[in-house]
Amino acid sequence: MKKKQKISWVCVKCGNISPKWVGQCSVCEEWNTFEEQTEELDIGTKNTRGIIKTPEYLNQALKQESKKARIGTKISELDRVLGGGFLVDSLSLLVGSPGIGKSTLSLQVALEVANQNKKVLMVSGEESVSQIAERADRLSDKNPEVQILNEFLIENILSTAQEERPDFLIIDSVQTIASGNSGSATGSMSQIRTVTEKIMQFTKKNKIPTILIGHVNKEGEMAGPQVLAHLVDTVLILEGDSKHDFRVLRTSKNRFGSAQEVGVFEMTEKGLQELKKPSEAFLDGRLENAIGSVIFPVIEGSRSFLVEIQALTSTTRFGLPKRTASGIPLARLSLILAILQNHARINFENKDVFVNVVGGFKVNEPAMDLPLALALVSAHKKQPLKNKLFACGELGLSGEVRAISFLEKRLKEGQKLGLTEVVIPSNKKTNKNIKELEIRPVRTVLEAIKNIF
Ligand code: TYD
Ligand code: MG
Repeated sequence: MKKKQKISWVCVKCGNISPKWVGQCSVCEEWNTFEEQTEELDIGTKNTRGIIKTPEYLNQALKQESKKARIGTKISELDRVLGGGFLVDSLSLLVGSPGIGKSTLSLQVALEVANQNKKVLMVSGEESVSQIAERADRLSDKNPEVQILNEFLIENILSTAQEERPDFLIIDSVQTIASGNSGSATGSMSQIRTVTEKIMQFTKKNKIPTILIGHVNKEGEMAGPQVLAHLVDTVLILEGDSKHDFRVLRTSKNRFGSAQEVGVFEMTEKGLQELKKPSEAFLDGRLENAIGSVIFPVIEGSRSFLVEIQALTSTTRFGLPKRTASGIPLARLSLILAILQNHARINFENKDVFVNVVGGFKVNEPAMDLPLALALVSAHKKQPLKNKLFACGELGLSGEVRAISFLEKRLKEGQKLGLTEVVIPSNKKTNKNIKELEIRPVRTVLEAIKNIF
């Protein structure tokens, strides 16, 4: 039994204990009463059950980490989001609302991986083998060998996987798989947790990269919320609006790569196709001289895309004015309305306000404040902005336009798509010079409005 010394300080008057020396006791308020005291601390004996681990050196651990194999999917938008493919002993949770395309994307991954002469096992607790076979037939002209298993008991799934030893495993979905050893209902919190833990152990032990699919509810909350996120290595979120064709794949957690990258897809009759030129696709169909429409260069990971922010106002007929935002947090809209009211004297008090990011894209970046404000003013004044103008900048509570990150990248994206004028924050760092782009730096939201309308 090993013993170790622990030092603490004790007040000789009242017995108050402190981890460090203090001049005055906080209990009896006497001065200079603390004395050093050493204690024997029992740290127990080394446990001889299991393996006793020895510490490793960082640089050696790093070498081993970079040597770990990854399985690429040939779907470059997905591989980029993952940081170069699925690591062989990683468990990835793919979440999204029902009907968004999780099963489609994972089947595409299965087909691509199998195409590289790798064995793939796809387990579905939701769909029958023939349903999946029919979809696979639609998605791929080639017919690579993917094994399909329709099973919902995790013990059976994992023992089949143990026998088959696939190179890649997909399980659809965590809410429809249950453990025979657990008494609670399928899809319940404790079932979801048990199932995920079993899969995690299996993945790590057998070094089989695994995708586990999970449904989220409409608000984007994970069903059986954050519990799963911390169990797995990577959380991939497939989002978009099932009424639109665009889909964005993000990571909210990535143990083995950046969590910033996004992949952009379009749902077609041949599954999810990568969107090579997202800006063009997002701006496709934009009306010329549209009232309440402003282009904003959003930053997602290492890239910038142009998105259209739209605003519409109408007179409130009765009751409280409505505020509706899609693709933008409602709190941000309220803030921008308050800034416009206070610093530009534009009143939305008896107006219903609707804002939208076209294409079902979700934006949550402070740099969208200025374009959002301009879209609202344009809708309020019923005056369009110039067609080839775009804007970016954060608004402060005093109506000031604040500096934003990645300005040059944003400006270049606009210029590349043929836009000619941009409104940006005025500040030393924003001294950019980009060919064929007229740059208008502004200090305040009022200055921006006066400049444009
Ligand atoms: P699915 O992958 O089943 O969604 P999830 O697993 O997230 O619930 O996708 C279902 C939708 O995708 C459905 O509305 C049909 C559409 N879809 C296509 O548009 N093209 C296709 O090639 C496939 C397979 C599905
Ligand atoms: Mg599905």
